[in-house]
Amino acid sequence: MQTAERLGKIPPYLFMTLRNKINEARAQGVDVISLAIGDPVEATPDAVIEALSSAAQDKANHRYPTDEEWGMAAFREAVARWYERRYHVQLDPANEVLALIGSKEGCHHFALGMINPGDLVLVTDPGYPGYKPSIWFVGAEPHPIAMKGENNFLPDLTAIPSETAKRATAFYLNYPNNPTGAVATPEFLADLVAFARDYDIAVCYDNPYSEVVFGVDRLSFLNAPGAKEVGVELNSLSKPYNMTGWRIGMACGNPDIIRAMATSKANTDSGVFNAIQYAGIEALDKCDAFIEEMLQLYAARRNKVLATLRELGWSYEPPPGTFYLWTPVPDGFTSSEFCDFVFEKTAVVLAPGAAYGTHGEGYVRFSLTVEDARLDEALCRLRDNLGKVSFSTDNNTK
Ligand SMILES: Cc1ncc(COP(=O)(O)O)c(C=O)c1O
Repeated sequence: MQTAERLGKIPPYLFMTLRNKINEARAQGVDVISLAIGDPVEATPDAVIEALSSAAQDKANHRYPTDEEWGMAAFREAVARWYERRYHVQLDPANEVLALIGSKEGCHHFALGMINPGDLVLVTDPGYPGYKPSIWFVGAEPHPIAMKGENNFLPDLTAIPSETAKRATAFYLNYPNNPTGAVATPEFLADLVAFARDYDIAVCYDNPYSEVVFGVDRLSFLNAPGAKEVGVELNSLSKPYNMTGWRIGMACGNPDIIRAMATSKANTDSGVFNAIQYAGIEALDKCDAFIEEMLQLYAARRNKVLATLRELGWSYEPPPGTFYLWTPVPDGFTSSEFCDFVFEKTAVVLAPGAAYGTHGEGYVRFSLTVEDARLDEALCRLRDNLGKVSFSTDNNTK
């Protein structure tokens, strides 16, 4: 049976590979603890579940959700209220907001709506593994832009050769950043808008961790003056409201990009189940306090992991974003070797940095989305079985 040649470019999806490894070990009776994937384990807020339940009782919601192709007006209005309340950003719900089946889906429709075969597309390296496949699917070429610890894991836009910038037609990036935890600054966002404007580059600012910051202000790409002229921000209810399985998010910003994405989307799926959109409205309008509760939980877990890492020899000061810790690998290991070593000694699974790109080598990612008791058990195993680790380079600038 012929399959499409384009699939040949797509590497195995990191978390599928890890899931297989975990399942195999569990089948052999190993008590595996995964700190690899970022998928909140606590429940969605009760009020959101109740909103879904009552909307699901209404037969009007059992039909195709296509009456309003860009998502229900009520959902898009709730998104606009949320951006106004949390970011002081004004959005026109009729032209600047599109409902998505998660921000991952948005990354794909951005590619289908905005990128031509043969285009060069900038992506941060390390970066979210979902970007490159979408770029390859449309016949374009991803071009890695290094993010380094010495530059707080922000891309140095001035180091991008002008020939590369002139050829590029789009740029995918996200801050608070998966995998590094880095956050953007208003200055960086202003430079990004200027760069995109100078070189006519469409920005896909994927921001599903916008709410997950510790001790610093939240920042949207749309806070940067002129952002709407050059790009869109994708956001999601997955991470702030523990709704990864519900599949709901939004694209906001430049009306031309929104329209292009909506055209691609309307010809691919039939939108988000209305009952889920009603539940999403409840989350966006009424669950700010829930986000704060989750942040406290993650902050406590973050401190616990850091305390254990310090005991073992790390001197790492993490950046203030996301529920991930992106830590340097001790001397003598590649990132994969270190993950294998940790797994053999403790049955704890970490995500190897190299899976996020060439510049991810030398790091591993810990996710804090695991129950407290399991995290405690994982940390206990690390303390008891790893031994002291050593580093020849500074943990914070390598
Ligand atoms: C950077 C980034 N973008 C998008 C996604 C997918 O989010 P969603 O559940 O909204 O599709 C993730 C999930 O881990 C992510 O880390």
